[in-house]
Order: sequence, then C-alpha cells, then structure tokens
Amino acid sequence: MNHILHIECSPRGAASFSSQVARHAVQALLREHPNARVIERSLGDEPPPHMSLGFIGAAFTEPHARTEAQRGLLAYSEALIAELDAADVVVIGTPMHNYTAPSSLKAWIDYVVRVGRTFNVTPQGKVGLLGDRPVLVAIASGGFFSEGERVRQPDYLTGYLRAVFATIGIRNVEFVTVEGMGRDREREAAMLERARHWIDANVGRLARTQAA
Ligand SMILES: Cc1cc2nc3c(=O)[nH]c(=O)nc-3n(C[C@H](O)[C@H](O)[C@H](O)COP(=O)(O)O)c2cc1C
Repeated sequence: MNHILHIECSPRGAASFSSQVARHAVQALLREHPNARVIERSLGDEPPPHMSLGFIGAAFTEPHARTEAQRGLLAYSEALIAELDAADVVVIGTPMHNYTAPSSLKAWIDYVVRVGRTFNVTPQGKVGLLGDRPVLVAIASGGFFSEGERVRQPDYLTGYLRAVFATIGIRNVEFVTVEGMGRDREREAAMLERARHWIDANVGRLARTQAA
C-alpha cells in the first residue's frame, strides 16, 4: 500500500467528530504501512466551486475537440480524479447534512464522477473506469440513522455514496459511524470509542485489500 487519500468534509475543523474518526483511521493505516504517502484534501476548508456552464461544456466535449481554455476548466476535476486514482485506500470523514452528503462532498463527487472519464454509458448501463479499492467513510450525525429503534430520519447518505462509487468502479465501500453526537458528552465518548475500536479491529483487513 503506497498511497492513502484522506478527504475531510466537515467545516468544523478539529471539533469535527467525523474528522476525529477519519484521522484515527489514517493513523491506524500508517501504523500498518509507515511509508505510505497521505494526500489530504480538505473539502470542509476549501469547498470545490459549484459547476459552471464552461465546465459542463468542456466535460461534454470530446477530448480531441477541447480547446486550451476547456482543458484549463477541467484541470481541477482532473487533479481530483488523479488523486483518487492514485490512492490504494481512501478515507473520508463526513458529516450527515440534511440526511445526505454535505454540499462540499457532493461537489467533489460531481467533479470526479464524469462520463467518458471515470465511467462510460453502455447499452447495459454505466460501467466504471476506475479500479476497485477500499473506501472507508467515517460519518458523524446529530441524530441516529442506522441504530434500530432510535432512528427518526431517513439515510440518503450511505446508499448514495455506494451508488456513486459503484458508478466509477469502486464497490469496496465501508462505513463507520458516530451517531447522536453533540448533546451528551458520555454518549459522544462512547460512540468515538466504539468507532476507534472498529477501526483498530478492521484496519489490517482494509490495508491488505489490494487496489484493482
Ligand atoms: C446544515 C446541517 C445539517 C444537518 N443535518 C443533519 C441530519 O440530517 N441528520 C443528523 O443526524 N444530523 C444533522 N446535522 C448534525 C451533524 O450531522 C452533526 O453536528 C455532526 O456531528 C456533524 O459532523 P462533524 O462533527 O464531523 O462536523 C446537521 C448539521 C448541520 C450543520
């Protein structure tokens, strides 16, 4: 394992619960592979810009027909795709915002999930063009969305992330969650401890999974 891509999506910096869990996962991976290189992409601090008309025009122009200016408009997207494609393991820390991904992560997805670049449309449906690799998503939420009787809200986050990663060829997506955060210190500590424990028990397996 040579490359870890570490994506942070919370705007809350060091106070972010999802970030604490994701950082624990990156440290655990580094203990397994001390020489691995970590690429950090902080979408919470520097959110990707929203789509522009120019970007969409460039993305839907055949590569050989693109102008110099259009290639420039795709440069940011190409950089994000290159980071993802170079990664043997991807660790994402993200909040749940309004039942789904925060807009910064959604914007990242829109730059990375690109027809003719990371997936093709065929008569059989969309076919991903990237190799599979493990993606670990650490999610923090104020309420519960996967914990049985306490669930009072829908989850449009985990299924959505599975679907978009599968579109580009990445099926090995796992989640570790800290739910019901922000109200009760004891519960927060217990949730974080449980997440760290899960990571420590599973990091060896994640690190051994080879990128395809
Ligand atoms: C704009 C916004 C929307 C939110 N929507 C939800 C939600 O739909 N469900 C939920 O359980 N918590 C929601 N929360 C609470 C956050 O998920 C919670 O504060 C979490 O700890 C944020 O992650 P972080 O600590 O990594 O920043 C929302 C918070 C914000 C700021």
